[in-house]
Amino acid sequence: MTDEPLTPIPPAIRRRLICGNWKMNHTHFEAVQMIHHFSASITEEDLAAVEVSIHPPFTDLRSVQTVLESEKISVVLGAQHCYFEPKGAFTGEISPNMLAKLHVGYVIVGHSERRLILGQSDEVVAKTLRAVLAAGMSPILCVGESKDVRDSGGAQSHVMAQLRSALQGLSPALVQRCVVAYEPIWAIGTGVNASTMDAQEMCQVIREEIETIVGPGVGSGVRILYGGSVTPDNARSLCRQKDVDGLLVGGASLDGDSFAKVVKAAGR
Ligand code: 13P
Repeated sequence: MTDEPLTPIPPAIRRRLICGNWKMNHTHFEAVQMIHHFSASITEEDLAAVEVSIHPPFTDLRSVQTVLESEKISVVLGAQHCYFEPKGAFTGEISPNMLAKLHVGYVIVGHSERRLILGQSDEVVAKTLRAVLAAGMSPILCVGESKDVRDSGGAQSHVMAQLRSALQGLSPALVQRCVVAYEPIWAIGTGVNASTMDAQEMCQVIREEIETIVGPGVGSGVRILYGGSVTPDNARSLCRQKDVDGLLVGGASLDGDSFAKVVKAAGR
């Protein structure tokens, strides 16, 4: 094993990215079982067609890293969160460098569950995003509106404000290393995914807004994912939208077989 983090290279073309966010599920024993199950359910060709990352809880990271690297499974290790300070008296937190040393490539930043349940502010999201970039990893910035906001017609302005607050002031080169995930809160864990039209529309608006915030030409190089009740059945149609460059998958990523089906569907 080298000491180099698995820093994802910014794609010249937007290679599809399928991320499994396990949230607070799976002990490290279950994690290893899941990875074995997943790798038995998928071929090298499937894994060459798209990029795949798996985001286990912190306690599973080292075990999952060891299995992925020793068995040469083409999956990038991901994390769900980190703190923005490099070290110090922050009981219970994990630094970006601790993740980079485990060869984590992608870190989810600003997931709606952290924003809503754990009180993560836009300011903390912006600082965390910068800290992840500084440690050589790529943030997956989550944005998305609640049902009330969507019903009142404010979905786009809400998402644009989240985007602006996180990306404003960053150089084009750094923004191109970011991934954005549009995850409407009303679609998370509900079994009601956004329609392909709604997902496409918001991802397109996000891409255009990146050009406004950061500069012309930048948005076309940034991968924008959709997340919220993704299943093996809807993965393909969501991924085939022009501005949807991949998926952030919760429930359907917990089981090796179902996540393999999502990855296969997304690569077709
Ligand atoms: P579900 O796929 O379970 O709806 O979760 C989506 C999500 O929050 C991924 O980050």
